Amino acid sequence: MVFYFSATGNSQYAADRIAGELKDRTISIGAALRDRRFEYDISGDEYLVFVVPTFAWTLPGAVGEFIESMVLKGYGNQKVYGVFTCGESSGGECAALAAMLQGKSIGFNGSFDLVMPDNFIIWSSLPPKQTLDKILSAADSRLEEIIEAIKSKSQGKIDTNQPRDLFMPIAEISTSKGTSKLYYTEACTSCGLCQKLCPMSCITGDNEGHPVWEGRCTMCLACLHNCPSRAIEHGQDTKGKERYINPKVTLRLENKY
Ligand SMILES: Cc1cc2nc3c(=O)[nH]c(=O)nc-3n(C[C@H](O)[C@H](O)[C@H](O)COP(=O)(O)O)c2cc1C
Repeated sequence: MVFYFSATGNSQYAADRIAGELKDRTISIGAALRDRRFEYDISGDEYLVFVVPTFAWTLPGAVGEFIESMVLKGYGNQKVYGVFTCGESSGGECAALAAMLQGKSIGFNGSFDLVMPDNFIIWSSLPPKQTLDKILSAADSRLEEIIEAIKSKSQGKIDTNQPRDLFMPIAEISTSKGTSKLYYTEACTSCGLCQKLCPMSCITGDNEGHPVWEGRCTMCLACLHNCPSRAIEHGQDTKGKERYINPKVTLRLENKY
């Protein structure tokens, strides 16, 4: 089974390619969290792979919480891997995933890093399209190597350091209390996509259907990048900046369990 978490498609793309080659199934952690679905039967599976983005050099909070609640029936001889899509470099997520899995008595056969376009536009801006295309093409070559390594059941990277954080903390945000830096502009058409996409289900609609952020946010930026009207901003940080969605995928909203 291939579990993935993806806000802008990079990890979904990698997960789909890996699952396609392994003839395996994919489960979106975001959709699973929305459905509160934590129990999976993996008894017929040869592999257990987690394809997730790097968040602050560790795992996303949503992924950490999913793994904490996850119950896997039939775990036994599967090879277990992590694949970390990152904008620049990975950090402690290999050690963090190994530690989280160990806490569930699940082994770990190592991880692989996969540099893809950086969607954290709060701190940076997207490079020009030509550079993005180069990054995506290099990622495809790296993905081939990763797939071969997984298929041949080779060991991936093992980090024996103590992880500083198992996952990036989840922030409590509120539009009504003024603690959310996420807001919508007049371009919002009340289409509701941001509410459907949020893995933490922390976006509701006001009586005109505009988004209201209330609750626990994992900062994945799915709402901001995927808004078809570009109506979502994060303070002043994202004003005038290009948005990113991996051009090779359409983000899936639902799992086939
Ligand atoms: C909150 C947040 C933190 C991030 N932190 C890092 C980081 O520490 N290092 C890095 O290389 N990329 C970082 N990124 C970039 C993503 O890991 C990268 O773009 C990833 O491929 C996005 O995957 P997705 O398209 O499946 O959501 C961060 C992105 C977000 C949203």
